[in-house]
Amino acid sequence: MSISKPSVRDVLKGQKYPAKVHAKKVKEYILSHLQSADEGVADGVIYLESQRTRMNEDNDQEMPFRQRRYFYYLTGCELPDSAVVYDLKSEKTTLFIPPVDPEEVIWSGLPMAKEEALQRYQVDDCLTTPELNSFFASSQTPKSVIYAIPNQISDSVSFLSFENKNYEILKTAIDESRVVKTPYEIALISHANTVSTAAHTAVMAAANSATNERELEALFLKTCIERGCRNQAYSSIVASGTSAATLHYVRNDQPLGGKLNLLLDAGAEKDCYASDITRTFPLTGKFTPESRAIYDIVLRMQIEAIESLKAGVCWDDVHAQAHRTAIAGLLDVGILKGDAAAIFEARTSVAFFPHGLGHYLGMDTHDSGGHANYADKDPMFRYLRVRGNLPAGSVITVEPGIYFCKFIIDPFLKDDKQKKFIDESVLARFWDVGGVRIEDNVLVTETGYENLTETPKALHEVETLATGGN
Ligand code: GLY
Ligand code: MN
Ligand code: MN
Repeated sequence: MSISKPSVRDVLKGQKYPAKVHAKKVKEYILSHLQSADEGVADGVIYLESQRTRMNEDNDQEMPFRQRRYFYYLTGCELPDSAVVYDLKSEKTTLFIPPVDPEEVIWSGLPMAKEEALQRYQVDDCLTTPELNSFFASSQTPKSVIYAIPNQISDSVSFLSFENKNYEILKTAIDESRVVKTPYEIALISHANTVSTAAHTAVMAAANSATNERELEALFLKTCIERGCRNQAYSSIVASGTSAATLHYVRNDQPLGGKLNLLLDAGAEKDCYASDITRTFPLTGKFTPESRAIYDIVLRMQIEAIESLKAGVCWDDVHAQAHRTAIAGLLDVGILKGDAAAIFEARTSVAFFPHGLGHYLGMDTHDSGGHANYADKDPMFRYLRVRGNLPAGSVITVEPGIYFCKFIIDPFLKDDKQKKFIDESVLARFWDVGGVRIEDNVLVTETGYENLTETPKALHEVETLATGGN
């Protein structure tokens, strides 16, 4: 499966969102995980609702809308207040969309018509939501099982015509099916990456004439919206100076004067699919020797990790190797001292690289199916959001970082088993670096990988861009 730039355009232009392929994957997961697959469970239907229009609790405005990913996966439909029924046996999809409400038309215009829905989405039939209960009640053969997700079923919906209800398996089935992407999904992620690259590049070029983080966040959003991506995959992190050591910094309102570097972690969303890109660059256009040394280590960690990817690789091993590379680099600059293997065993590098190497990416920024173990007693692996082997077709972020966060590092400096490995006098020169993270989105293939992120990251490219050059 290889998705190159021209085919991204072709895929997105010529085809519908592959809801049927997704539904079939979910069906196969359900049937292969239920013991009584040959005793009637296949004679059932999947039921999913879209997100509802919700109002602010204290006024008459709507809350920002975010489509439910479970519904989207089986429809590609962005409408609120809708539902879908997928019949496992016939593999027929019926979409239920809101009817015309004459009171609403003056405010919101006409809702989508059935004909348009049939043309836009990969569904076999389209009815309106008030027809849902009679649709279930009039089913020719009473279905034995309804598969649904708890707390995602409106009170008005009746499952009385079903002999059995299964509220356990559907969510897991979709979560697991989402790990391996279809070419269409990869094209959406790739498109989001292209837009985000334009936005990252614009921010790098503007940074040395900007005065506050706010201006750079605004420029990122403007660049994405102009290119058709109105939604962000997550709240942008625009962190100057030592704020870069706060992993999910979202204040984005501090002056840039006197700061060394900017860490920008931001990604556009395209039709519910995320990009998640981080770049760190010098606000003056030139890294200091300390910043450069850390940038070199993080870039090495990232390139090595990316180059080791292919189907079947164990993500835990890639993460551990990134720690080994961090240790070698930090020994070279003198922040760490002692034996590399002993430092690895002691987990000292967690003081500087406290998060996981990356996570699956898809409809969610931290996508489903990663099987993290946040209760892991080993601090090196506790925040690793993907555990185990990567399948071909998965998309994973590769985002090593090295940070100088007093709150994290100080306990190591007070711990007898750790402090012997850290040279405090060398470390003192590095606090102002803040933090460096470099993050790309990578497709895992049978034979290797394809990096979907083209945002410049080589040291000379970043320095040239950050001086306002192109
Ligand atoms: N932007 C959130 C993350 O990188 O995981
Ligand atoms: Mn990120
Ligand atoms: Mn990420």
